[in-house]
Amino acid sequence: MISELLSESFRTTALGAAMKGAGLAVRFLPIPQPTILVGPGASGRLGQTIAGFGHGRILIVTDSIVSRLGLLGDLTRALSEGGTEYVVFDAITPDAPIPLIEQGIDFYLEHDCDAIVAVGGGSSMDASKAIAAAVSNPGKSLRELAGYFKGLQTPVKIYAVPTTAGTGSEVTVAAVIADPERQAKLVIVDTRLVPKMAALDPCLMTGLPPAVTAATGIDALTHAIEAFVGKWANPYTDDMALSAVGLIFENLRVAYSEGTNLAAREKMALAATYAGLAFTRANVGYVHAIAHQFGGKYHTPHGLANAIMLPLVLKYSFPAIIDRLALLAVRAKLGTADEPEEVLAEKFLDAVKELNRDLGIPAFLATLKEPDIPALAAAACHEAHTGYPVPRYMTQGVCEDIIRQVLPPAASSDKPAAASKKPAAQKKAAAATKNPATATKAPARRARKPA
Ligand SMILES: NC(=O)c1ccc[n+]([C@@H]2O[C@H](COP(=O)([O-])OP(=O)(O)OC[C@H]3O[C@@H](n4cnc5c(N)ncnc54)[C@H](O)[C@@H]3O)[C@@H](O)[C@H]2O)c1
Ligand SMILES: [Fe+2]
Repeated sequence: MISELLSESFRTTALGAAMKGAGLAVRFLPIPQPTILVGPGASGRLGQTIAGFGHGRILIVTDSIVSRLGLLGDLTRALSEGGTEYVVFDAITPDAPIPLIEQGIDFYLEHDCDAIVAVGGGSSMDASKAIAAAVSNPGKSLRELAGYFKGLQTPVKIYAVPTTAGTGSEVTVAAVIADPERQAKLVIVDTRLVPKMAALDPCLMTGLPPAVTAATGIDALTHAIEAFVGKWANPYTDDMALSAVGLIFENLRVAYSEGTNLAAREKMALAATYAGLAFTRANVGYVHAIAHQFGGKYHTPHGLANAIMLPLVLKYSFPAIIDRLALLAVRAKLGTADEPEEVLAEKFLDAVKELNRDLGIPAFLATLKEPDIPALAAAACHEAHTGYPVPRYMTQGVCEDIIRQVLPPAASSDKPAAASKKPAAQKKAAAATKNPATATKAPARRARKPA
């Protein structure tokens, strides 16, 4: 992957070259792999482990929902018991907008921190990576750090506790951040951004709403499928992608309908991580290329955009990937290896559509407008053709036809193209929390106890 939700203007220009660079970087450079703690209580065990590393003061980066739900408790207790100071910055909002990351940078510096623990979904993890890169390279702005290996100095150490099972950012080389001024998303890529350790703690995921469970779960599925059917797949990424697909077919419906099922939550967390290990090396394809345009234009949640496009792009790619889809079908337990490949591949396509239906994913993109389609398709093709190892080439015309299939039934073709939704207003200011046991001065922003 490398380019989650990058928005249109950026995508049509900088992204192309960036994707190419990313591809080269991830194909030929060794990518570090974090030590991963798995299971109920893993976030507390991560805290105990980090406390032994001798950090002076840790910055915990999260969002206010995760903080309010009390998901930091095990981690912060373990840090305190281990005698490690920490401060909490819980102002991150979806897609990690630059102004909030800048507040996080100031907060890190004000409190003289020397490492970061990210607790949250992709937005908090990517904000953490961006803060880590920025504080280690003070001469460069976040916009200047966007791109490939733009920071000379190694980012400060990051540890990650994902609370969604989707992005895989806990093991990837990328940080995707939003630039509200340009209505664009930027990507910072550096193999040194991969967290040192991660905790996959299913107890933190039981409160994820079903719609977020569904969208983030299909994001992980799309990472695995696109990595597996793309041309950069290798035996390692195949192993990871197949494992992810098997786990997702077995567990996503359960996690969706029975959110407190710890076993299903844990398997989904593992699946997202495996998919992350696959796509950070083998990259993604047209599903992501198109979904990114929907994210940029209409602020469609990334997983939802992927889910809507996945069946259609797989159908188009079908003739080139029958053998690969057949392998995925067997791993998803949709058939057995002695069946004809084409039959298995068809079964896989049908199963993806059925999974979407079961998860309440719509077949249409409600905000899509016919007049927008040519520009969306052009940007998607540009993104894909300059960086993604797609299995079957798509012309812009074909891409337009595919996107047209998700127009809502009532969409009128003569409406003007300007009706895109504005992003939700960003929440204001950071809420800072200082470890009461170790606080030496009042935090610069509103201070309160951890939830
Ligand atoms: N770096 C990468 O490799 C990579 C890969 C994929 C996506 N991304 C990026 O990640 C971001 C999306 O991340 P995401 O899909 O994880 O969503 P997110 O981090 O934006 O979180 C979505 C919502 O779920 C809430 N939430 C998170 N955990 C929760 C929990 N346990 N219980 C209840 N609510 C919870 C959050 O508060 C938020 O409102 C995008 O910016 C995308 O571009 C990055
Ligand atoms: Fe994705």
